[in-house]
Amino acid sequence: MAKFYVRNEKSQESGEFELLESTLGAPVVDISGFKAKVGAYTYDNGFTETASCQSAITYIDGAKGELLYRGYPIEELAEKKNYIEVCYLLLHGELPNSDEYESFERDIRTKSYPHEGIKYLFRAFPDNGHPMAILSSAVSALSAFHHQHLNIKDDEEFMEMARRIIAKIPTIAAYTYRHSMGYPLIYPDMDRYFTENFLYMMRAFPTGKTQIRDVEVRALDKIFMLHADHEQNASTTTVRAVGSTGAHPYAAVVAGINALWGRAHGGANESVIAQLQMIGSVENVDKFIKKAKDPNDPFRLMGFGHRVYKNFDPRARVLKKLRDELRETIGISSKLIEIADRVEEIALNDEYFVKRNLYPNIDFYSGTILEALGIRKKMFTPIFVIGRTVGWITHLIEQKKDPKQKIYRPRQRYIGKTKRSVP
Ligand code: CMC
Repeated sequence: MAKFYVRNEKSQESGEFELLESTLGAPVVDISGFKAKVGAYTYDNGFTETASCQSAITYIDGAKGELLYRGYPIEELAEKKNYIEVCYLLLHGELPNSDEYESFERDIRTKSYPHEGIKYLFRAFPDNGHPMAILSSAVSALSAFHHQHLNIKDDEEFMEMARRIIAKIPTIAAYTYRHSMGYPLIYPDMDRYFTENFLYMMRAFPTGKTQIRDVEVRALDKIFMLHADHEQNASTTTVRAVGSTGAHPYAAVVAGINALWGRAHGGANESVIAQLQMIGSVENVDKFIKKAKDPNDPFRLMGFGHRVYKNFDPRARVLKKLRDELRETIGISSKLIEIADRVEEIALNDEYFVKRNLYPNIDFYSGTILEALGIRKKMFTPIFVIGRTVGWITHLIEQKKDPKQKIYRPRQRYIGKTKRSVP
């Protein structure tokens, strides 16, 4: 086994550490016992160089712009599979055969009704509350209705817990939206496929026919799939941190929802559209690009840049193609898309963005597609939540099954006052 040596010049201590190979990508140095051997802790602001766990779910090569779910390239999955097949793949490690798919998909449909008690929560919220705030509260309440999931012992119980939350999240998200609009809450329709059912719950009224086109279902299904997992991002790491304390799995998911809300993470999809609206016209694009490049201006171009991708985000590539297809099939075209095209054109050729490898990310394209599907901006991040829930829950299961799993408890470099007496 390869070794890694560290020497502390100050204390003259030195240590030998194992270099652990990965099946793909860089090896990692196992720094267990680092402080005891070399008399110091490591410091890694924002965890840019630290692997917090071992995982066999998703692989990203940021330099190449590659994303694999259980070894399968995201582009191929988006071409050949649907979201529910991908959920099965993430949870079980392999794609389902037709019997496995049928039983999994049926189970998700039948679990889509939350307990009736969940509905009463909505009365307590103001109509104009942000859907992410309401969604996280409602999912938190869900843990009170399914407390048996605190004591999971076997695979079947893990899967039951996972299928239950995957199935109920779209219903709760749709309730959240309908409440914010003052519309009656609509129950799931168990005759419909997952994604069609979500669009139905968003659009339907107690009477009258609900129009949902296949092309819309396919587009939203791809959006869910592309958001399904992304290894140790901020929200997944949050889910693992909360899960490591032994909290209820749905409470850990709620922590993920709240971490996702931020503009630097899942909240970016809503911010992209808000920013395009603020830019207002193609003529104003140059002015805003200049602001984004100004080191003294906190303004950032939303939907650009990524911690891991230093090349085109492969999810963005799939969505860009999807957006162009939708332009032809459902004729989407809007002033916002014209502004977005101009932003993209300038940024991809501008030295500031090129030098820093700032490419459009998934959120740059998802917003314009969701808008074309008639979904309101404030629901964009809840849609990210629907897609990502399977990823969070899969990581939680992987973590819970790991016999070496420990409570997350990082160290710090203390830079405060030294010990002093109270006067
Ligand atoms: N606009 C202008 N400059 C930028 C941007 C941007 N969107 N993103 C990064 N930079 C600059 C940054 O100012 C810095 O410049 P300098 O080296 O001169 O100081 C350099 O690029 C490196 O940036 P960083 O902040 O150190 O990079 P990071 O890895 O810490 O941050 C990020 C990644 C995604 C938070 C950041 O690129 C950003 O804020 N982007 C806009 C928000 C966004 O679109 N978020 C969605 C991410 S994808 C979906 C998801 O995974 O949730």
